[in-house]
Amino acid sequence: MDKLVIEGGAALTGTIDISGAKNAALPILTAALLTEETLTVENVPHLRDVATMLDLLGRMGVSASRHGKLGVALNARSLGDPVAPYDLVKTMRASVLVLGPLLARLGSARVSLPGGCAIGLRPVDQHLKGLQAMGATITMEQGYMVASAPRLKGARICMDLVTVTGTENIMMAASLAEGRTVIENAAREPEVVDLAGCLNAMGARVIGAGTDTITIDGVERLHGARYRVMPDRIETGTFLAAAAAAGGRVRLNGARADILDAVLDKLREAGAKVEAAPDWIEIQAHGTRQAVNLRTAPYPGFPTDMQAQFVALNSVAQGTAVVTETIFENRFMHAQELRRLGADIEVEGNTAIVKGVTRLDGATVMATDLRASASLVVAGLVARGTTTIERVYHLDRGYERIEEKLSRLGARIRRVP
Ligand code: EPU
Repeated sequence: MDKLVIEGGAALTGTIDISGAKNAALPILTAALLTEETLTVENVPHLRDVATMLDLLGRMGVSASRHGKLGVALNARSLGDPVAPYDLVKTMRASVLVLGPLLARLGSARVSLPGGCAIGLRPVDQHLKGLQAMGATITMEQGYMVASAPRLKGARICMDLVTVTGTENIMMAASLAEGRTVIENAAREPEVVDLAGCLNAMGARVIGAGTDTITIDGVERLHGARYRVMPDRIETGTFLAAAAAAGGRVRLNGARADILDAVLDKLREAGAKVEAAPDWIEIQAHGTRQAVNLRTAPYPGFPTDMQAQFVALNSVAQGTAVVTETIFENRFMHAQELRRLGADIEVEGNTAIVKGVTRLDGATVMATDLRASASLVVAGLVARGTTTIERVYHLDRGYERIEEKLSRLGARIRRVP
C-alpha cells in the first residue's frame, strides 16, 4: 500500500489546475444508463472512484472508450444484468446511483444495500421512498435491494432530509417516468445542478435544480449528448485550506468561486486574502491564521467535505475554534490522527473544540476516509519534520495526483510504494 511522505514547513507558491468534480462525474456517468445512444463525458477526473464506477457500469454491459485525455464515451445500448454487486458497492457507496437509472430504463434493478461506512450509517431510505412513490416495488433479499416497476410514474416527493445522491437518483429515474415529478426539499448542491445540465443535454426536462424544488417532466426516451463535468469545489477548497495553513500564494486555474462562498468567507476570516475571477481563485496567506468557528450544512452552507481540512487549519491557528458537524454522525476520525501530530482537539458528540497550537510535529498517521486523509495532508504540510500518511488509497478515491499538484506548488511531498 502506498504512503505519502511529507517534509513540512515549505510555503506553497505557484499555479495548478483544478480537476473535474468527483461528485458530479459519478452521477453523470450513471446517466449513460438512461439512453441507448452514446454519452460522452468530458473533464472526468482520474480517480479510483471513477474507475470503480466504470467497472460497475462495464459489468452491466456499458461499453466505455476513452475520448481524448479526460473524456469517456459510454454506450449502454445492450445492457446485461442490472446488478450492482456487494463487492463494488461496499467500496463505493455512490454505486447506489445506478438504482434510479436502471429502474427507469429497464424496469428492474438489483443493488447491494450499502453497509455503514467510515463516516456514519448513511441509510438510503430516502432514495427508496422516492422510487416507491413513483410506483416501484422494492424488497430486500439477501442484502440486496430488488426493485421493479413496469413504468415509473411521476409523483410529488417530499424528502425528509436533504440528500445529494437521493435527489440525483430520483431526478434520473423521473426523467424517463410518465408525467411530472416534483422533488421537494431537494439538495441544492452544484453537483445536482451539473447532473441536471447533463440530463437536459440528453433531452430531459428538469427545471429548478439548484433550488429546493426540482420539477421533472418525464420523456419517452433520452438521447446521446456530450457534457463537460464541472470543476471540483472540494479539491479547490482543499488546496485553498492547504495554502492558508502552509502560507504562500497559490492560484487555482479552472476553479469556480461562485460555488464556494461559505469556504472562501471562512478563509478570509482566518486571515487569508482571497481573490477570484470567473475561472480562477487566488489565495495569499502570510503570518498568523485566526481560528474560525464553523458548522457544516447542506449547500449553500459550509460543506461537510471541507470540515476535516478546516479542523487541520484551525489546529495551527491562533485561538480556539468550535467546529460542528451536522451531516454525518462519525466524521471526526481525523481528530485522533491530528492529535498524533500535536494538535489539541477535543471531540464531544458532533462538536470538535480545536485549540490552536504554535507547532505540529511530524509523525506517522493513518488515513481513515477520503476527507480525513486530506486533513492529514494539510497538517503534514505545516508540521515540522516528516509526516508519513499511510493508506493513501483513500486519497486516491477523490484527489487526482495530489502529490504531483502539491509538489508543483513547492511542497516536499512524495509517494512511496
Ligand atoms: N441520509 C438518510 N437517508 C437517505 C439518504 C441520506 O438518512 O436516504 C442521511 C445521511 O446518512 C447523511 C445525510 O442524510 O446523514 C446526508 O447524506 P447525503 O445523502 O446527502 O450524502 P450522499 O449523497 O451519500 C454526497 C457526497 C458526499 C458528501 C455528501 C454530503 C457523492 C457521491 N457523495 O453523499 O461526498 O459528503 O453528499 O454533501 O456525491 C466525499 O466526497 O468525500 C463524500 C463523502
